[in-house]
Amino acid sequence: MNTRFYVTTPIYYVNDVPHIGHSYTSVLGDVLARWHRLLGHEVFFLTGTDEHGQKVQEAAQKAGRTPKEHVDATSERFREMGRLLGLSNDRFIRTTDPDHVSYVQDVLQKLWDKGEIYKSAYKGLYNVRDERFYSESDIREGRGPGPDEVVEEVEEVNYFFKMGSYQEKLLEQIQQNPDWIVPDFRRNEVSGFLRQPLGDLCISRPKSRLSWGIELPFDREFVTYVWFDALLNYVTGPIPTPPAEGERWWPASVHLIGKDILTTHSVYWPTMLMGAGIPLPRQILAHGWWMADGQKMSKSLGNVVDPFDVAAKYADFGGAEAFRFFLMREMVVGQDSSYSDAGMTKVINNDLANDVGNILSRIRKQVATGFDGVLPALPTELSGASSELRDKAVSVVAEVENQMRLFRVSHALEETMSLARAINSYLESTAPWKLAKDPARRDELAEVLAVSSEALRVLLVLLSPYMPRKIAEALRLMGGEEALPGKLAWGLLPSGRAFQDGAPLFPRLMPPKDPAQSANPGKQPKVHAAPPAAEPNHPFGKVDYRVAKVVSAEDHPGAEKLLVLQLDVGEAGQRQVCAGIRSQYSAESMVGRKLLLVANLKKAKLRGVESQGMILAADDPEGRIHLLSPEGEPGSFAVVEGLDRMPGQNLLIDTLDAFELSISGGRLVLDGKPVLAGGVGILCQAPDGAKAH
Ligand code: MSP
Repeated sequence: MNTRFYVTTPIYYVNDVPHIGHSYTSVLGDVLARWHRLLGHEVFFLTGTDEHGQKVQEAAQKAGRTPKEHVDATSERFREMGRLLGLSNDRFIRTTDPDHVSYVQDVLQKLWDKGEIYKSAYKGLYNVRDERFYSESDIREGRGPGPDEVVEEVEEVNYFFKMGSYQEKLLEQIQQNPDWIVPDFRRNEVSGFLRQPLGDLCISRPKSRLSWGIELPFDREFVTYVWFDALLNYVTGPIPTPPAEGERWWPASVHLIGKDILTTHSVYWPTMLMGAGIPLPRQILAHGWWMADGQKMSKSLGNVVDPFDVAAKYADFGGAEAFRFFLMREMVVGQDSSYSDAGMTKVINNDLANDVGNILSRIRKQVATGFDGVLPALPTELSGASSELRDKAVSVVAEVENQMRLFRVSHALEETMSLARAINSYLESTAPWKLAKDPARRDELAEVLAVSSEALRVLLVLLSPYMPRKIAEALRLMGGEEALPGKLAWGLLPSGRAFQDGAPLFPRLMPPKDPAQSANPGKQPKVHAAPPAAEPNHPFGKVDYRVAKVVSAEDHPGAEKLLVLQLDVGEAGQRQVCAGIRSQYSAESMVGRKLLLVANLKKAKLRGVESQGMILAADDPEGRIHLLSPEGEPGSFAVVEGLDRMPGQNLLIDTLDAFELSISGGRLVLDGKPVLAGGVGILCQAPDGAKAH
């Protein structure tokens, strides 16, 4: 049997919108999953959403939809966050999934049959946010309710799980397995909690109060308590995908959780499992709290860090991948940490551009000029400096393995970055750019490039769990991704690989432009790299500009500035787009007109109407709008000579801010070069210098 690694994140409450806290646990899970896959282990990575309970029922009512309609829509936001962050989860479990529901009922029935559950009257203070009652000891020890908590005094008959009877067994589990709860100060916290008598756990809600839940199989008038339902996701999640015939993934290797849900995971959960005769998870890792600019995040302060915003803002500097790297680099697992733009900038400039990006571009340049882009072979005998670098790479790999075993991800990254610095020092001391000038030292040059390339390959493999897409791209530039399965041993990079030179993979970030001069001053300011006009990965190429013909048009029902256009985009199909041009263009006047469409924008809803793209227009100094009039066939795309076209999906609008389109001589230009559609220029009546966006 291969080594197996099964990692979980908490399942997120659907009522919340995804923020940096959710992103962090998810990325941590993903990094651990990818790391173990790299080591050749069999991996299952589970994440998902927690969808039952009173708050969801209330929110659905407010939104005027059924709870199921509501959770279908809101849980999608978390799947979208997963796509943004490139999570490699094997399942996205929802507590409304039928297999989960029936498993929860099986476990409840089993506990009922064993006499582990009883019915009793209960009166107490109910915390609506956490969907739980405060126990007497909580209140005695000042653990609640806090000043802003919504609590209700509730008296009702309910079902209880005999949690208290497992107190001794749980204490023993903690004492005998010192690594079961990490970090150790969290273990101490739980042991402290267990010094007080442990009560029983209320596991039901009467349907008269809460209907949006899983019915108790032995009393249909009740639904189960949210935590009882939610925690069992960890067992049910991987059941449909067993690792091998007749085997199970459970028990989990590690549950990743935030510090606020420590008690539910290390007291409620293990006692429930003990009661049901199911093995316990092997480890529980509680991480700290993210703040924003040193302050607690809250909706009322408006400082909640949104992963979609961060990715869009830094789209040209690694975007979501740089954010992943930042999250893992900046938080010491277990402790609190703080997000700031200055922190992101530091990571992008120092770690990514200066350290990693620099090595990559130095080596690529030297291999391109000195060896026609073909990597020379790694010599069997290495000179002093080269063997030192090899030894450093080997020791870093060993140290990273140690740190990752202890989940010390930021330490592992620090260690990894020390390899980056060592490669840069090696390049500085051996100075291949000087060796290249002396034909007599060609062998030395070959050795330096081969050794630094191999060290770089090891570095990239170590970084691949953090930035999987960027690193795949870097390895492709070094001749192919097959270097990855070669993994972490030294000396695997085959010679003769064709390196590609080109634009930097990790560009440096310039200070933000003055927002007053930005084309869209109302929007989230974006940071700029001022890319040169002609280069293969100019951001212009990421945009899928298409000629579109208006089939029909009507006024937007809820926004007086908008028209809703139905467009024919040739091979790219039919599109509906909202355009803010109604102050100057009537719906009728639009029919039959050709326009320039940004066809690969992320879909948006504008006042309830879906918009699948954006129409380009220029505005003059008086603020009048001038539509662009391309002549090509619908579906033909716009290009600029010398710039590669490489549009992806779901483009974020900020990409359009990374360059400026303007009007010159009645035509659309990019940095003075004409933009062509169907081989001809794109006409516009705006005066020279007007910006098109
Ligand atoms: N649904 C429960 C978990 C059930 S698991 C069987 C829940 N959901 S939650 O959406 O409120 O929180 C999910 C996770 O996000 C928790 O681990 C919580 O600690 C984490 N975070 C919420 N805010 C956070 C920060 N500001 N920083 C870091 N993590 C934070 O609890």
